[in-house]
Amino acid sequence: MSTGADLLDLSPVMPVVVVSDVDDAVPVARALLAGGIRVIELTLRTPVALAAIERVANEVPDIVIGAGTVTAPDHAKQALDAGASFLVTPGVTDQVLDACFDTGLPFLPGASTASEAMRLAERGVTALKFFPAEASGGVDYLKSIGGPLPGLRFCPTGGITLKTAPAYLALPNVGCIGGSWLTPKDALAAKDFSRIEAFAREASALRG
Ligand code: 3PG
Repeated sequence: MSTGADLLDLSPVMPVVVVSDVDDAVPVARALLAGGIRVIELTLRTPVALAAIERVANEVPDIVIGAGTVTAPDHAKQALDAGASFLVTPGVTDQVLDACFDTGLPFLPGASTASEAMRLAERGVTALKFFPAEASGGVDYLKSIGGPLPGLRFCPTGGITLKTAPAYLALPNVGCIGGSWLTPKDALAAKDFSRIEAFAREASALRG
């Protein structure tokens, strides 16, 4: 699989996770899975991110673990080597896009305009991250581009909450949404994995 279309159908919400303590990775993944979530975007924003991906890939095989914040060509290969099953980027450059293709992994490249989305579609990519969703026009923007670009499906991410999620999920061109609210910093700092499981349960119920 070279595009990310199937990734959009795993869970209504793709948690965007920032792990600072590598020992949190497996308990977080298990908590999300226990709450019904089957996919994680673990961001390459901390020094332990690749090790965290590796642990989840090895120890929690029932959750699909991807690498997020892929912003440089090297990240794509590093994520592949760590065991990531997919890649997510906030936006694309030609080099990052080529590096994502080179891994052979499915990926969700970020786009926030019709032109960016069209350029990706020219490369055969029809499943995209719409980022930053709220700041780029949110539900109204996605509704507007659904008319001229009906072949594209999105995972809007950025500024979405449990409360605003249903309006996105109701759109025909939205497969799932991304959000960091399932794994808030304070819950991670307190190692409160049961709270994360409760957030996951609420998020899973968004599409029953
Ligand atoms: C991302 O990295 O995709 C976003 O920062 C997540 O956005 P959120 O924190 O507003 O959910």
